[in-house]
Amino acid sequence: MTPRTVSPRTVSPRTVSPRIRPYRPDDLRDVYEVCLRTGDAGGDATGLYSDDDLLGDVFAAPYVVLEPESAFVVDTGERVSGYIIAAPDTRRFVDRFRQEWLPVLDRKYRHVDPPVTREDEIVHLGFTPDRMLVPELDEYPAHLHIDLLPELQGQGLGRELVRTLLGSLRERGVPGVHLGYDPRNTGARAFYDRLGFVQLPSGATTMGIRSDAAV
Ligand SMILES: CC(C)(COP(=O)(O)OP(=O)(O)OC[C@H]1O[C@@H](n2cnc3c(N)ncnc32)[C@H](O)[C@@H]1OP(=O)(O)O)[C@@H](O)C(=O)NCCC(=O)NCCS
Repeated sequence: MTPRTVSPRTVSPRTVSPRIRPYRPDDLRDVYEVCLRTGDAGGDATGLYSDDDLLGDVFAAPYVVLEPESAFVVDTGERVSGYIIAAPDTRRFVDRFRQEWLPVLDRKYRHVDPPVTREDEIVHLGFTPDRMLVPELDEYPAHLHIDLLPELQGQGLGRELVRTLLGSLRERGVPGVHLGYDPRNTGARAFYDRLGFVQLPSGATTMGIRSDAAV
């Protein structure tokens, strides 16, 4: 008997559109990867530092580990390729970062103060969580980070992630959220402007939005 062959045309390709869902602990490696590949003012930071996990250790992992309920990811069906992560109460986050995350950093990195190299500067940011205590915390107590891999950019997912986070903050009575961005990242600035974030008095690269804003 001749074996039956299936024409490729009869097999429908598995098309899965990216969907936003809450973070799960097994997303952690993908979150590190997204953080790295968007970590140079929105571009790929692979190989820039002696440890490719440095950016994730400072700007991503502490959020998903300490505040998993404020973390949402974009799941492509194969992996996580984007996220929005936040600390809903920055003051509380700074306390927990000091107590629970600094020991993690301390085991891995040498804190050079004052910093000399670009790598020292990132490590220094990790060792100085008080920098997150911006003067506008009463109005904008939360802060966020958002990153999407290039293949997911420009499709409205960034806006949808912000909408998702704002909804979750609103439900918990958090009045607003702020963020800081790299001044070289003009694309991110355009995105935040477009969504209605306003520049905050404490810094040219600090922006905020109320959680009841329509984005
Ligand atoms: C910045 C980022 C989160 C935006 O998400 P996105 O999914 O690409 O943006 P969206 O498609 O939701 O765009 C929403 C609006 O912002 C505008 N916008 C987004 N990126 C823009 C850019 N680079 N330049 C100008 N406008 C931009 C869009 O045109 C859109 O406006 P519209 O409603 O008039 O069409 C995403 O591009 C990204 O992760 N970039 C790399 C990492 C990064 O820079 N993170 C921010 C660090 S502070």
